[in-house]
Amino acid sequence: MGPLTDQLRREPPGLHAGGEEYWGLAWEALAWLEREVRPGMATLETGSGASTLVLAAADADHVAVTPAADEEERFRAECARRGIDGSRVSFRIGLSHEVLPTLDGPLDLVLIDGAHGFPYPVLDWWHVAARLNVGGRMLIDDAYMPPVRALVDALRAQPHWELEEAASFRTAVVRKVADGLPSFDWEGERIGGGVGFAYLPARERVVASARQRLFSTRVGLRAVELARRRTGLRFRRRG
Ligand SMILES: C[S@@+](CC[C@H](N)C(=O)[O-])C[C@H]1O[C@@H](n2cnc3c(N)ncnc32)[C@H](O)[C@@H]1O
Repeated sequence: MGPLTDQLRREPPGLHAGGEEYWGLAWEALAWLEREVRPGMATLETGSGASTLVLAAADADHVAVTPAADEEERFRAECARRGIDGSRVSFRIGLSHEVLPTLDGPLDLVLIDGAHGFPYPVLDWWHVAARLNVGGRMLIDDAYMPPVRALVDALRAQPHWELEEAASFRTAVVRKVADGLPSFDWEGERIGGGVGFAYLPARERVVASARQRLFSTRVGLRAVELARRRTGLRFRRRG
């Protein structure tokens, strides 16, 4: 893991829910951003949080779209506290399906991690897909959730997108390999469905499914609660 991801892991910042919660990307996905993003890359995310800190520290020209204005205040305070230059990050406060159509300009990398209910992940993708440079990558978080999985399943089946190695057990990565619209006809691909990890290699898929099942049990929920007490923050239960 990179040094900032390690630091965030040791000391997760309360950036969400009035400063009471940590809803960040999985550590592996934060490490992926820390490793892959280069200074001056044009990046955009829906939602904000730990990922925004990592993108700021990477010196990306970054835009974060979130309806929560207080997230920007917490981000700026956290930058100051950790000695991160946040001046290349701009926030657009509002709902992504309303804000994204007002923005333009080419992008090198996108993170979709805002609203997770259907159809918002699909709308987020739709509004930025044409802006992403060919060769650029998109991280799609919580890819096992049916409304998000529908998007990832559809992209896996399309010739303009290629599924790459996942950035974490819940973070799918797709690369845009050509410009173009999705097919106007349904070609029989299975999209959506229940909780599933089909974007992971077989062994990781088994582990992720078992972990998902475990953390949905009473014992698993109790373990999450203990972790919460240890850090003083509530970790968002995803799934
Ligand atoms: C899971 S958190 C993002 C976590 C972040 N990527 C990180 O690493 O900490 C979800 C984010 O989506 C934002 N959000 C919720 N509804 C949204 C919407 N309709 N449009 C854009 N962002 C939204 C929340 O305010 C929050 O910042």
